Amino acid sequence: MEFLRSVVPFQPAPMIATERVILRAPGMADYQAWSDLRGRSRSFLAQWEPTWPIDDLTRPAFRRRLRRYQREINEATGYPFLVFRTEDLALVGGLTLSHIVRGVTQSCSLGYWMGEPYASRGLMTAAVKAVIPFVFDTLRLHRLEAACLPHNAASIRLLEKAGFTREGYARRYLCIDGKWQDHLLFAIVSDDPRP
Ligand SMILES: CC(C)(COP(=O)(O)OP(=O)(O)OC[C@H]1O[C@@H](n2cnc3c(N)ncnc32)[C@H](O)[C@@H]1OP(=O)(O)O)[C@@H](O)C(=O)NCCC(=O)NCCS
Repeated sequence: MEFLRSVVPFQPAPMIATERVILRAPGMADYQAWSDLRGRSRSFLAQWEPTWPIDDLTRPAFRRRLRRYQREINEATGYPFLVFRTEDLALVGGLTLSHIVRGVTQSCSLGYWMGEPYASRGLMTAAVKAVIPFVFDTLRLHRLEAACLPHNAASIRLLEKAGFTREGYARRYLCIDGKWQDHLLFAIVSDDPRP
């Protein structure tokens, strides 16, 4: 049994279910819904994200994305989730935990996007609130960080509602929409109050 466990290449990805949203790792069966939603939300998302590669919405690029995700899950350095609305299992967006660092840091970074048709309904706030116990109680990390553009009012509001504290300002922090841009830095730590 021990031998078999050591040759199985895949670690199971977690699933998180709440009254409003279900979070689970993406699989190839999600490709069509994912590319449809990202495609119809392109103008809503592009100004807040790294520049999309030219083939980003294609099936081969999605397969490569899944391989990268699986590596991160196997190495326990990241957990990608798709977000589904519980009431009808519609794919509504995505949430990613990445850059998991252990040792003296015990931290990770949060990223997210919502499909335009589903925005401003409280769904990403529900998803972020749902992932916080996974980060602190299951992964036993100490710190969850998020960065956003200073003029991203929806993202700032979401982080505040989810219990994050604004901690800093990083100059030219991430290359978003093709430009190195300043970011606000937010975090929640394991002993902060959870809303
Ligand atoms: C940021 C984002 C993920 C939020 O997802 P969401 O499901 O719409 O978030 P919620 O509905 O849970 O909360 C958003 C809050 O911002 C508010 N909001 C939305 N647009 C706003 C705007 N232009 N100005 C001010 N507040 C705004 C909403 O009213 C809501 O607050 P409320 O509940 O107090 O009314 C989504 O807007 C998105 O994907 N934006 C584009 C990509 C992006 O910004 N990614 C994150 C990069 S850091």
